Amino acid sequence: MRIGVLTSGGDCPGLNAVIRSVVHRAVADHGDTVVGIEDGFLGLIEGRGRPLALDDVHGILTRGGTVLGSARVERDRMREGVARSAELAENLGIDALVAIGGEGTLTAAQLFSDAGLPVVAVPKTIDNDIDATDVTFGHDTAVHVATEAIDRLKTTAESHQRVMVVELMGRHTGWITLHAGMAGGAHGILIPERPFDIEEVCRMVEERFSRGKKFAIVAVAEGAAPLPGTMRFAHGEADAFGHQTFGGIGTRLAGEIAQWLGKESKPVILGHVQRGGTPTAQDRVLATRFGWHAVEAVHKGAYGHMTALCGTEIRMVPIVDAVTRLKTVPEERWIEAEAVL
Ligand code: F6P
Repeated sequence: MRIGVLTSGGDCPGLNAVIRSVVHRAVADHGDTVVGIEDGFLGLIEGRGRPLALDDVHGILTRGGTVLGSARVERDRMREGVARSAELAENLGIDALVAIGGEGTLTAAQLFSDAGLPVVAVPKTIDNDIDATDVTFGHDTAVHVATEAIDRLKTTAESHQRVMVVELMGRHTGWITLHAGMAGGAHGILIPERPFDIEEVCRMVEERFSRGKKFAIVAVAEGAAPLPGTMRFAHGEADAFGHQTFGGIGTRLAGEIAQWLGKESKPVILGHVQRGGTPTAQDRVLATRFGWHAVEAVHKGAYGHMTALCGTEIRMVPIVDAVTRLKTVPEERWIEAEAVL
C-alpha cells in the first residue's frame, strides 16, 4: 500500500515519534510505501509530499516539533480540498492517509473521510482536551515543563517574599494547570472549567502569609476567567508597584493581587516553552504505540477511526466521537486537587 502521513495544527512533543513508528511498521513490517506530506492539509491540497524511508526517520524519536511541518489552512481552501479529495490522493499516489493532529485536524480528517478519502487519525495535543481517548501524547511533556517552572519559581518567590502567578497553556481546559499545579504544589489552581473569585484567591494568599509562609504560587490556565464583576482593577492600569496589567489573565491576576493585598506579585507566562523540546519517555511510548496501531487500522480498513488510549489498551474509535465535545476537567478532579492546596 501507499500510505500518506501528515501532521497538522499546533506542534506537540511526540509527533516525530508517531511518524517514525508509522514508517517502521508500514515499510519494514508490511512492505508499504510511506509518503510524508509537508505542512499538513496544506501540503495535501498542494500535492507536496516525499517518500519516507527508514533512513529518513532515523534519530527523530527524541526530537520535538515535526519533521513534516505544519500549517494552517483557510476554511474555504479546506472545503475546496475536501471536494477534490480523490484527485488529491491520486496526485500524491496514496491509497490511505494517516492524519496526526488536534481537534481541528480531526474535524478535517472526518470531512475528508466523509468525502471518501480513506483516513485514519491520530490525536495529539499538549492540552489533553480531546475526547474519546484517556490521554494525548504531548500532555505529559508539557506538564513536566510546567511543573519544573513551578518548582523553580518557588525558590525565587520565597527569597523575595513574592506572589508568583504562573500562566500555563490551556485555552479551553485546565488539564495542564491542574496536573502541573498538583505536581508542583501550587497554592492556587485556576482553570477555565471553574470561574474564580478574585477575593477568594486573595484571601488564600493573605492567609498563607499570616501563617508565616513567605511566598505563594498561583497556577492559572490561559483560558481561566474571573467571575463577572470580581476583578476590581481596570485592565491596563498600573498596579500598586507600578506594573502594567495589560496582557493575559496571568498578568491581570498578578496586578489584582498586588492591588488588593499590597504584596509584590509577578506574572510568569510560560507560553510555547510548554510545547517545544524533547518528549518525555511516556509521550514517546504513547506516540509510538499510536503510530503502530494507525498502520494496522489502515490495513484493516478501519477508516474514519482514530487511535485512542482506553485504560492500558490502544483501541480504534470513530473520529466523530472525539470531535463532538471537548474533554474538560470534571468537578471531582478539581475537588481532589483543592484538598491538597
Ligand atoms: O496546542 C494547544 C495550544 O497549546 C493552546 O494551549 C494554546 O493556546 C495554543 O496551542 C497556542 O497555539 P498557537 O500559538 O500555535 O496558535
